[in-house]
Amino acid sequence: MTRSFLRDDDLTPGEQAEVLALAAELKAAPYDHKPLAGPRTVAMVFDKPTLRTQASFAAGIAELGGNAMLVDGLLAGIGKRESVADVARVLGRQASQIVWRTFAQSDLDEMAALSGVPVINALTDEFHPCQLLADLLTIAEHKGALAGLSVAFVGDAACNMGNSWALAGATAGMHVRFGCPDGYAPDAEVVAVAEAIGAGGSITVTADPHTAVDGADVVVTDTWISMGKEDEAAARRTVFGPYSVTPELVARAAADAIVLHCLPAYRGSEIAAEVIDGPQSVVWDEAENRRHVQKAVMSWLHSHVGESV
Ligand code: NVA
Repeated sequence: MTRSFLRDDDLTPGEQAEVLALAAELKAAPYDHKPLAGPRTVAMVFDKPTLRTQASFAAGIAELGGNAMLVDGLLAGIGKRESVADVARVLGRQASQIVWRTFAQSDLDEMAALSGVPVINALTDEFHPCQLLADLLTIAEHKGALAGLSVAFVGDAACNMGNSWALAGATAGMHVRFGCPDGYAPDAEVVAVAEAIGAGGSITVTADPHTAVDGADVVVTDTWISMGKEDEAAARRTVFGPYSVTPELVARAAADAIVLHCLPAYRGSEIAAEVIDGPQSVVWDEAENRRHVQKAVMSWLHSHVGESV
């Protein structure tokens, strides 16, 4: 099976650094690198809502000289109208890479196993690795380095962003502290994998948001109601109420701390308007950086086609 990017730890620490360095190069000269010239087609498949992901992949594929093919998940009915296996074999004959946002990580794994082309995770219930590369590039731009920095992830850590922060943060050698209610920590197996990466980072989980944030270099949050969790909205607003990223909470972080949010944001819930729209917020750089890191991932995978995992 050719190399894909299905979860954050598909890149070793050295490879993650290589992809981030390539992203910085591509950001500095966005129109100079055309590995998808032909144009080669990249299929973008969405089974969940999207704004940044579709926009940044479409723009990035064009900048790489390729052709972005949008496949509407509702029309395609993957797993309902046709099996994942059949869709994988069909798309793999049309596209040189497949970008897929869907629910189950196991479906993404099947797509990668059967399509014959690199597959990129554009968000599943379990991981959001492209977002993490954007977060890491943004932090590196503002802080100069990644290894050794402390990151406080506050709120719902039992979601794709929490799991991806555990893996990608550990891969980058960062100290990731989750401040989340009991029952909303990242997946225990994912944390165990992250702790075994051995790049010098660490993972801690606390139910006290203050402990998580005290002195942190970076404060991160995400919506309390991830896509697919809408039925639990009322209960979640109650559980997560004390985990709102307010100016008072951010004041406990390092004086020069930066604040990240993958968006969409709900001001007054997981993050206060004064924080996301304030001077420590880097969310617009973070959103832009989706394009640069995803270009780097597509270029990197293209240059590794034929290498098996
Ligand atoms: N955890 C969020 C991330 C959105 C980009 C969700 O899955 O909806």
